[in-house]
Amino acid sequence: SSGDPAHRPLTGRTVTITAGGTREPLDPVRFLGNRSSGKQGVALAAAALAAGATVRFIAAHMDVQPPDGVELTTVETAAELREATLRLAPQSDALIMAAAVADFRPDSVSETKVKKRDDGENPVITLTRNPDILAEVVQQRGSSGGPAVIVGFAAETGDSDATPLAHGLAKLKRKGCDQLVLNRVGRSLVFGQDSTEVTILDAGGAEPETVSGSKNRIAEVVVSRVALALGSAG
Ligand code: CTP
Ligand code: CA
Repeated sequence: SSGDPAHRPLTGRTVTITAGGTREPLDPVRFLGNRSSGKQGVALAAAALAAGATVRFIAAHMDVQPPDGVELTTVETAAELREATLRLAPQSDALIMAAAVADFRPDSVSETKVKKRDDGENPVITLTRNPDILAEVVQQRGSSGGPAVIVGFAAETGDSDATPLAHGLAKLKRKGCDQLVLNRVGRSLVFGQDSTEVTILDAGGAEPETVSGSKNRIAEVVVSRVALALGSAG
């Protein structure tokens, strides 16, 4: 049964999950956003709760309701997501970064609504890089401690340089996380869909594992891999 400890391998563990898509304001009524629905994050939270974990859920904008039973922190921008993640990650056994974080933000935010102009001049938006939160958590773990297991998510397309798998393996190395859940996009897969196919890459050298099915199914596999990694981490 679900009360059997063998089926609740994350009992006593804390898992922080980021989900949804960040929004970067341009002015009081407009923002730059992305199409992340938050569904994968909700599925991950449900799987971690079912496995017995305490779940800290950091929600950027989501099309769906955040799950019940989590400690919820809501954020809007990448800067707010960074602050919440760097605060909660050190007290967590695992971090799963399912949020779609804006790589750039407008380098200034207008305090008043941007208006059309009579002189025909159009506004120009200039962008600044946002910090890489996942890479910072990995760095923070190296210096002052952090989650024993850090999982990233990445959506990749193949291009003339490399296959999605090669891009994913390079990203796993670059970020320094323990596992990277690779979505191959561009075939009407992923955004807002209930079902998808991913390949899970492992920094420990385990063979890549391909999982297809619902986001719930993928979440169960990701969470059981986290439990396995925590088990062997002691
Ligand atoms: N991520 C993050 N901080 C950012 C951007 C991304 O923590 N500023 C995290 C995402 O939550 C995800 C992982 O990094 O878990 C990979 O995101 P992705 O956008 O694929 O990686 P990038 O390094 O931004 O690479 P790209 O230039 O391909 O977008
Ligand atoms: Ca990115």
